[in-house]
Amino acid sequence: MSSIDKVLARIDANLDNSLDRLFDLLKIKSISTDPAFKAPCREAAEWLAKELNDIGFEASVRDTTGHPMVVGHRKSGKPGPHVLFYGHYDVQPVDPLNLWKRDPFDPAIETKPDGSKIIVARGSADDKGQLMTFVEAARAYLEETGDLPLDVTILFEGEEESGSPSLHPFLDANKDELTCDLALVCDTGMWDAETPAISIMLRGMVGDEVIVKAASRDLHSGSYGGSAQNPNHIIASIIAGLHDENGKVTLPGFYDGVIDMPEEVTRMWDELGFSVEEFLGDVGLKYPRGEKDRMPLEHLWTRPTVEVNGMWGGYQGAGSKTVIPSEAHAKFTFRLVGDQDPDKIQEAFRAYVRSKVPADCTVDFIAKDGSPALRLDFAMPALEKGKKALKAEWGKDVALTGMGGSIPIVGDFKRKLGMDSLLIGFGLEDDQIHSPNEKYNLTSFHKGIRSWARVLDELAKD
Ligand code: BES
Ligand code: MN
Ligand code: MN
Repeated sequence: MSSIDKVLARIDANLDNSLDRLFDLLKIKSISTDPAFKAPCREAAEWLAKELNDIGFEASVRDTTGHPMVVGHRKSGKPGPHVLFYGHYDVQPVDPLNLWKRDPFDPAIETKPDGSKIIVARGSADDKGQLMTFVEAARAYLEETGDLPLDVTILFEGEEESGSPSLHPFLDANKDELTCDLALVCDTGMWDAETPAISIMLRGMVGDEVIVKAASRDLHSGSYGGSAQNPNHIIASIIAGLHDENGKVTLPGFYDGVIDMPEEVTRMWDELGFSVEEFLGDVGLKYPRGEKDRMPLEHLWTRPTVEVNGMWGGYQGAGSKTVIPSEAHAKFTFRLVGDQDPDKIQEAFRAYVRSKVPADCTVDFIAKDGSPALRLDFAMPALEKGKKALKAEWGKDVALTGMGGSIPIVGDFKRKLGMDSLLIGFGLEDDQIHSPNEKYNLTSFHKGIRSWARVLDELAKD
């Protein structure tokens, strides 16, 4: 048996132990965005550092001003590229908790009506289950052969879900230690349950919270109605003016740097046979929104957007209360593509908002860290190796996809450290990431581990 076959056989034999370890990590409530969960975030980092040390890495927890990083190194002494594997141990908040069928931090395997098995827990797919596919592949390699086929550095962070504020400076401060020949990232999805995918582009993001204030206190809506400014109405008109009747964003300069895909890419995507009816049907919808002259996959992958993620102001309790609120709030995020500049988009947005705020009102902004979009070089040699390894595991050609979501640090890998990234993930559309009842298919976990073993083996070849 060749050494890769032995490693794969070991992965199969040890799957139950791999699952036990994943469950231990899933039990840790590492919600990064809620300060109440600071201690569990550190616990997750310590758990991972111990895990890496146990399998033969030199790993440590590294403090930052936010949640800690985990960095581990394992030298193979072999020629060939040195890779950096990146993942995030933080998870999204669990609310609304009442919609979960079980405790989000009490993982379990469930069997679906079609007989397939799923791992249910917060973080199972985003991103603990995914990052553990790599750790378990490395473990099997080390246990079976005593070595890895190439030099590997592992970097885990605990703030991806809030835009990686500590990781950006951490990369600058630890450039030499973290710069490798290639980054491997496991935080994306497959095309469908049978078809593996490598993402060749990622949308960027920039966000802002807007607070409009008017009167010095809430007012009687009869006594003052018609005379005093109402911040709820101002926020509503700001939101309403962001799109024109064709679904285009109206901010001046918004589409600067947006790039149309080469025809070979759109053709490749056409051949994927995407059905927007099925895609929306799964979530109880039917009719795609978005720019009218664009294809459904363009809406998701290659076009920029703005979404209001939350808005509030005034009375929200039971019954009615005749009041004009003194302030109103809305949270906005833009998804960016091509060479759109997050700072310029934020400037244009703020200028637009200010133009909509009448003289009697004030407006404040709370910025959210921005990160530009990323496109990978289609000619990158690692892409071919990744495709070959995934095809061997899944028995199907790899789909080269875009990705609607963002992984803020990946752009910095390129810009700050000069590293390309290979974005390989095993998530599925119905994993319900960020939602109640998040799950990861057992097949994603098992074949994900096997896939990484094959990718490492392939990357180590000349
Ligand atoms: N893993 C996701 C990104 C993702 C989403 C990949 C959907 C594949 C499909 C990542 O953890 C994420 O949620 N990113 C955030 C970043 C933001 C909070 C700065 C996102 O995209 O909203
Ligand atoms: Mn993620
Ligand atoms: Mn996420």
